[in-house]
Amino acid sequence: MMLGLRSRGKADTAVLDAQRGESYPYPYPTGWYRIASADSIRPGEIRAITCLGKQFVLWRARESGEIHLMDAFCPHLGANLAGGRVDGDCIECPFHLWQFDGEGRAQRIPYSDHPPERVLTRPYELEDVHGQLFLYHRSDAESGDPEEPPAYEVPRIAEVDDGSFVRRGQRNAGRLRMHIIEICENAADTAHFQALHSQLHLPWTQVRVPGVEIVHRAKWVLDEDRPWMMHFDDVVTLRALGRRLPGGETKVRVSYHGPGSLLTFHFELPGWGELTMVKTFLPISPLEQQIDFQWYAPKSMPRWLVWWVIGNWVSQFPQDIDIWENKTFQARPKLSRDDGPVIAMRRWYQQFLPEPDDTRPGNA
Ligand code: FES
Ligand SMILES: [Fe+2]
Repeated sequence: MMLGLRSRGKADTAVLDAQRGESYPYPYPTGWYRIASADSIRPGEIRAITCLGKQFVLWRARESGEIHLMDAFCPHLGANLAGGRVDGDCIECPFHLWQFDGEGRAQRIPYSDHPPERVLTRPYELEDVHGQLFLYHRSDAESGDPEEPPAYEVPRIAEVDDGSFVRRGQRNAGRLRMHIIEICENAADTAHFQALHSQLHLPWTQVRVPGVEIVHRAKWVLDEDRPWMMHFDDVVTLRALGRRLPGGETKVRVSYHGPGSLLTFHFELPGWGELTMVKTFLPISPLEQQIDFQWYAPKSMPRWLVWWVIGNWVSQFPQDIDIWENKTFQARPKLSRDDGPVIAMRRWYQQFLPEPDDTRPGNA
């Protein structure tokens, strides 16, 4: 625990974050980002969403039940639509009460019979995968072709599609003061695993289990067929007094679909079956990420086992957080020959960034 860092004052944090912010690459790489779960937004509900450095409004039509994501600011004179209301299948701006349909056309202007016919505010397309709503964001939004199809699709979990897995839980893990590239660097920096993640905790807690060591055999690989993917493979065993504990080894493959915004964890539990966890990171601002996860397993898998596997992973996360929230990005790191393939990962990550920009370290 970094108590010294915790006792920092506001000014220290401002200086720290300014220095950190300058060190990192572009904060909103191209990729799919989870915005919300579909069942969390009721018909008629409006939600202000801040993410990817912008303000959006997410709303659900009352009659059609369709969910729409739009720029928060009204195309008329700029009021924030999140302060409005939903009337039927339109969102009404709180300022001059213009009403827009889900396609962004003005359907009604209370003081005019001549609403413009063209689309005034272009809605963003959302992809609903297993009940989660994803937005495809382009880091080259201004210079690139908006009609170009996404570089990859949101992954579906085959076992959910064929009915052998069901959703067994979900969690809003809140926000962290960190940059999204750290999620990717975490996988390639294989040396940190034994240093940071070798202590067993009671699942879901920071209570240490004395005398038990977690042994990791970690490896980072690029996906040969899907250039937007990389994987982190780990074989985990438990050891006490120098001896391996019974219970076998857990194999986990963490697959990165894109720039750290969407990770799937696939656990193989010998004798028990398999389990998949989806973890998403949504940049709110350059140094702030919203974290959510959902997990899926067969209905028949015992609750305690699901609780144990997911909880063990969750209880390792705070070790990373203390580091992530206080670190900078070393554009030219001094590595030892036994470090993980950090540089290779950064090369892979370039595909999600805007055109190379020498002014941002890591983009060059
Ligand atoms: S600013 Fe929205 S209706 Fe005028
Ligand atoms: Fe880690």
